[in-house]
Amino acid sequence: MLGIRGLLGAVADTMTCPLRPDDYWAIINPLWSRRELSGRVAKIIPETSDTSTVVVRPGRGWRGGLAGQHVSVGVSIECVWHRRTFSLSSPPGRPDGLIALTVKARPDGLVSRHIVHGLRPGQILRLGHPSGRFVLPDAPPARLLFVTAGSGITPVMSMLRHLAEGGAMPDVFLAHSARNASEVIFGAELRRMAARFPTMSLYEHHTRPTDGRPVARLTMAGLSAICTDLPERLAWVCGPRGMIDDAESYWRESGIGDRLVTERFHPVTFPGGQGGRVRFARSSRETTVSGDTSLLIAGEDAGVIMPSGCRMGVCHSCLAPLVRGQVRNLRTGEEHGIPGDLIPTCVSAPARDVDIDL
Ligand code: FES
Repeated sequence: MLGIRGLLGAVADTMTCPLRPDDYWAIINPLWSRRELSGRVAKIIPETSDTSTVVVRPGRGWRGGLAGQHVSVGVSIECVWHRRTFSLSSPPGRPDGLIALTVKARPDGLVSRHIVHGLRPGQILRLGHPSGRFVLPDAPPARLLFVTAGSGITPVMSMLRHLAEGGAMPDVFLAHSARNASEVIFGAELRRMAARFPTMSLYEHHTRPTDGRPVARLTMAGLSAICTDLPERLAWVCGPRGMIDDAESYWRESGIGDRLVTERFHPVTFPGGQGGRVRFARSSRETTVSGDTSLLIAGEDAGVIMPSGCRMGVCHSCLAPLVRGQVRNLRTGEEHGIPGDLIPTCVSAPARDVDIDL
C-alpha cells in the first residue's frame, strides 16, 4: 500500500497524466494492477560510478524466471512511459520475493541514465516477464566458462549467485573485461566468491589500468592461452558486439560452435533506410524517427504500450499488424509492406511513413 507521501504523489500524477479505469487500483496499490504487471523499487544499490542495481518488489502476476534472463522495464519520465530491457542480476526465487536488475547508464541512454541517477525507492516500474535463452541447462555441466565485459556480467552474476546457492560451485572459469578494477561491476562480490570457492577461477582483464598503461582488448585467442581447457567447457559470452563476434568466430572455426551461448544487447542491424512518420492508429499517437530506429523504440518513446519480449527478433512477442506504408527489416535491409502483414516491431524500422495497428 502507498504511504501518505506516495498517495499524494499518485494523486498529483492524476492531475498531469491521463488515467484509465484500472489506474485507480494502481493509485491504491500499483502492484494490484490487473492491466499491467508492475513493481515497486525497494532499494537502489550503487555498483560503480555509472551502474546501479535496482531492487524491485514485483506485483501481482509475476511469474519468476531463470538465471540469466532479461526483463522489459517501463519507467515514467515526465509522464511518458519508456520501455527498455535489462538483465536480472538476482538469482531466481529469492526468499524475500525481490528481484534485482542491474543497469549501466549509457551516455546517450535516456532511460538508463534516469534509472541510475533519477530513480528513487518507492517509485513504480512496469515489468514484463523474464525471457531469453541465455540460461543454464537444467543440470549445469561439469565445467563452465563465462566471458563477459562491462555490464555483460549482469546475467552471468544471476547465474553465479544461483550456482552458489547450494554452498558449492561447479568448475567455473570467469573471464571479465573492464577498464580497471574499480569499474568491475560486482567486483568485490566476484572476488569474494572466487576466494570462497576453490572451483571458481576469476580472470580480470583491465584495459585502462590505473598506471595508465594501455592494454589490448580481451580476445578469444588470447583467452585460450589463459583458460587452457577452453574447448572442453560449455561457454556463455555476454558483452559488446566486437566480443560476441570474436567469440562466435572463434568457437565456430574451432568446430565447437555448439558449446557456445551468446547474449547480444542489440540485434545485428543492416545500416541504411530513410525513416519517416510512424502513426500508431489505435493509440492515436505519432512520431517521426530515423531509418535505424525500431518501431518498438519509436512507440515506447511516444508513450504507446508496445508488446515486447526478447527485443532481438527471436520471440515474436512484438508482432503488430501493418496498416499501411513500408517497413525495413533492420537485420536484412529488406523493405516490405503489405497491409495486414505482422511486423516484428523490435527489428523493423519505417522505410517511409507507416501506420501500425497498435
Ligand atoms: S520482442 Fe521478441 S521478436 Fe520482437
